[in-house]
Amino acid sequence: MARCWCRLRSVLICVCTPCLCLALLFVYISVMICLNLNSYAMRSTARVNYDVENNHFIAQETSSRDGFDLKTFWEKNMEGIGFWNELQRTIDHNFNPILHPKTKAGSTRDFDGFFLKQSFSEVTFMDNMKNIFDNFPQQIQQFASHMLIRDYPILIQPDGVCRAKGRHEKEQPLILFAIKTTEFNFKNRQAIRQTWGQVGWVAGAKRNSSDKTELGGYVRRVFLLGKEDTGALGTHVSDLLMMESKTYGDILQWDFRDTFFNLTLKDVLLWSWFSQNCNQVKFVLKGDDDVFVNTPKLITYLREQLRKPQAKTTMEEFLVGDVIGSAIPNRVRKSKYFIPDTFYKGHYPMYAGGGGVVYSGLLAKRLHEISKTVHLFPIDDVYVGMCMIRLNALPIHNPAFLTFDFSGKEDEEPCSYHTILLVHRRTPEQLVSLWADLKKTWKRCQDVPLRNSDDKKIPQKNLPKLSL
Ligand SMILES: *[C@@H]1O[C@H](CO)[C@@H](O)[C@H](O)[C@H]1NC(C)=O
Ligand SMILES: *[C@@H]1O[C@H](CO)[C@@H](O)[C@H](O)[C@H]1NC(C)=O
Repeated sequence: MARCWCRLRSVLICVCTPCLCLALLFVYISVMICLNLNSYAMRSTARVNYDVENNHFIAQETSSRDGFDLKTFWEKNMEGIGFWNELQRTIDHNFNPILHPKTKAGSTRDFDGFFLKQSFSEVTFMDNMKNIFDNFPQQIQQFASHMLIRDYPILIQPDGVCRAKGRHEKEQPLILFAIKTTEFNFKNRQAIRQTWGQVGWVAGAKRNSSDKTELGGYVRRVFLLGKEDTGALGTHVSDLLMMESKTYGDILQWDFRDTFFNLTLKDVLLWSWFSQNCNQVKFVLKGDDDVFVNTPKLITYLREQLRKPQAKTTMEEFLVGDVIGSAIPNRVRKSKYFIPDTFYKGHYPMYAGGGGVVYSGLLAKRLHEISKTVHLFPIDDVYVGMCMIRLNALPIHNPAFLTFDFSGKEDEEPCSYHTILLVHRRTPEQLVSLWADLKKTWKRCQDVPLRNSDDKKIPQKNLPKLSL
């Protein structure tokens, strides 16, 4: 009897122990899954506040970090919303970093254009959309009918502009000047080449400090072009550009019409080209072909940014310029910036004026990724702002970027051009004479500081409401 019991017991132990273990494991896994789901849900609700009055979600994180409210791009109330907002809505719902904190921009890599196409076909099949579309001004219509296309082929590109190191160079390039220009603006390009846009080693402004070896950098240059409607002027324009490219090796041209509403293509195509070709370049200056840049001061300024203790993290989202907050779209029909509210409703996100901005190479690559989930927008600098906010990144305002020029007669004061990094709207002739002046006054003005050069992330509500 005792033996029998003993046997039974060992059988029971053999059979039941694994069963018990399995059961315990099952319970454990279920509990873990429940806990995880719960905490995920709690996290995503805890992070979001809803501003009932203005129909906006508010990112709490950003508001506590920077001391002001940052309205997000995702509006809840969708009634009577603009065409672009409607297009972007479903995409944002999927990728909103506030609603879905775990979504990373990097994870969009595999879906080239998929979400954009999907939302476009959904929205254009909506009942009232055909009517809205037909009533767009012609320019907007033209934009909207091409806004899904961004893989325009490269016609001319420079050979090895960003190549890791030139033969005699000691270090990686510091900055790439990427200048928006058009086929006929040869004079502007030539003036830039001879003045502030010279390539190679450029010394910084503080030549006299002890660590002078550090305060300089290698500069690269590329001009960004589409194709101009040459009309009756015929085909030789592109031959000339080809010759220019052979001579200077700084032409990057794509096969799209170079119109104002196509300028955003220069951003997204530059990001794509940059990501493939310029891995080692630390900064990009993107600007118009009528800006004047104080290159030595800019080099010093950027070197200082790299030396800051936090540089490793800040460079992930570094974009500096003349920051405009809370701008509203231009609703004046005759303006070249005109955006009807059937196309876009609401404020623009904070953005840096497109005359000239500087951002890090790291950010350029992140912008390239995130832009795959942001529908093109006809105003290029606003589009960059739209991508920035989707990276949860804020542009840095620096008053030494004068995209709206000096105020009054400030520029006639001695040393005035030594206090700035960039100023917008100068003719090619002015570029040449300003550059000569800068050199002539160098010794005298060398130590003049930049105009209130403390970088600030400006509270949105303190900024004037500008309509362009
Ligand atoms: C340059 O540096 C030297 C030595 O550090 C100093 O004596 C001199 O005053 C400096 N010159 C200028 C123009 O700052
Ligand atoms: C942009 O370029 C494309 C390709 O050349 C052209 O079809 C389209 O009309 C242009 N868009 C605008 C708004 O000019």
